[in-house]
Amino acid sequence: MSPFMQTLRASSHGLALFLAACTSAAQAAPYVMFRDAGCGCCHQWAEHVRSSMKTEVVMREDVPMPEVKAAMGVPAALVSCHTMEVEGYVIEGHVPAREIERLLRERPADVKGLAVAGMPMGSPGMEMGNQTEPYDVIAFGDFGTRVFAHYD
Ligand code: CU
Ligand code: CU
Repeated sequence: MSPFMQTLRASSHGLALFLAACTSAAQAAPYVMFRDAGCGCCHQWAEHVRSSMKTEVVMREDVPMPEVKAAMGVPAALVSCHTMEVEGYVIEGHVPAREIERLLRERPADVKGLAVAGMPMGSPGMEMGNQTEPYDVIAFGDFGTRVFAHYD
């Protein structure tokens, strides 16, 4: 693990522990979401994750996103806007909460994370009336990439 990633993890865990201590003991640690302060769509996706998964989401805007994505091993071809760490997995872009729930249920050992590349219309947080475009949720890891789910 890179020194940068260690710092990132140490500081996110510190933050998570601090916040966990402030809320009820039964509540799981919040998910840490990295975003660019200038980006607008992240909040809507964060709200989708919060309400669907009944979890807290902590935003961090203090680390440049290219550094976050490089440290978390997001493949260049799968880059989107925000990046979240969920129980050791990396969630890149507008991934539907139900796919995160499925990932946490199945816990595939070879998967490092899930990504929805770019910003497809109609994905959670990218709703534009009833306009939609098809997109894939891609699982990535040492094996490369594979389709985890497809949305029309
Ligand atoms: Cu976005
Ligand atoms: Cu965004």
